[in-house]
Formats: sequence, structure tokens, C-alpha cells
Amino acid sequence: MKILVINGPNLNMLGIREPDIYGKATYKDLVEFIGSAADSLGAEVDFYQSNHEGDLVDRIQQAYGVFDGIVINPAAYTHTSVALLDAVKSVGIPTVEVHISDVREREDFRQVSYIRLGCIGAVMGKGFDGYVEAIKILMDYTAGQSSKEDVQ
Ligand code: DQA
Repeated sequence: MKILVINGPNLNMLGIREPDIYGKATYKDLVEFIGSAADSLGAEVDFYQSNHEGDLVDRIQQAYGVFDGIVINPAAYTHTSVALLDAVKSVGIPTVEVHISDVREREDFRQVSYIRLGCIGAVMGKGFDGYVEAIKILMDYTAGQSSKEDVQ
């Protein structure tokens, strides 16, 4: 199973950015952590990070026909971007939303998630482990889909 892990704006600043909320580990640490967990799970992962909404849309579109699943932390674009929602709906690739912090316990403006309407699941408040949980959700979902196809 090929999974694309997408991170949005300011997540390249992990380790520097608000460590009390996001922790002291860096984006590079995140990539290494997910990469080794995915290896153990038997999933193939690729990574993309951008601070630009249109670049994130482009990357989601390019995933069409190439990836079987997307794990996305759209960061601030979670709360504003219909374009990212439309992109995941356009490609129809099973997608799971992830947030490092528990957005449910933060400001009112973080209570809205556009991307969630196009996702099969959402994981929040579990730090870096949330990305691994998202990969497992995608793997279970895909296994469920293919066993349904076998029966038909
Ligand atoms: C975040 C939560 C968002 O509200 C915020 O804008 C981020 C990171 C998280 O991972 O907790 O940049 O997506």
C-alpha cells in the first residue's frame, strides 16, 4: 500500500514552533518516525510539506492513480480551505486527517474542519503517533474494501 503523508504550513517549523503545543521534535524527526513505523506495518510512504495552498492542491492531484491513501495534516488550512477539501474529493483517494494537537480543546476558529468532509477518519491530540494511527486506519479501510470486492 502506497501512502502519501502531506503536511501543511508551518509544520516545517516543528521543534522551533510553539514547543509547548507541538513538542521539541523536528519535521525531520517526524519523517523518520513515520518512515520506520510504516516499514514495520508494511506500508510504503512518501512525504510532502508545503506552506502554500495551491502547491498542496497540486500534490494531491498528482497523487491520483499513484497512491492508495493520503494522510494529511493541513495545519491552518484545515480551518479555511475548501480548495483542499475539493482536491481530496476530486482524486477520491481514501484520506485521513491528522492533527498533532487536540484541536477540539483549542480556539473556536480551530473547531471548523473543511477537509474532514472528505476524509474517512480524523486523529487529533496524539502527537506524532497520530500519523501512525492514520496509516493503520487507511490499511484497515483498504483491507475492508478489498475483502468486500472479493465477496462480490
Ligand atoms: C495543527 C492544528 C492547526 O489548528 C494548526 O493551525 C496547525 C497544526 C496540529 O497539527 O495540531 O498548524 O494542524
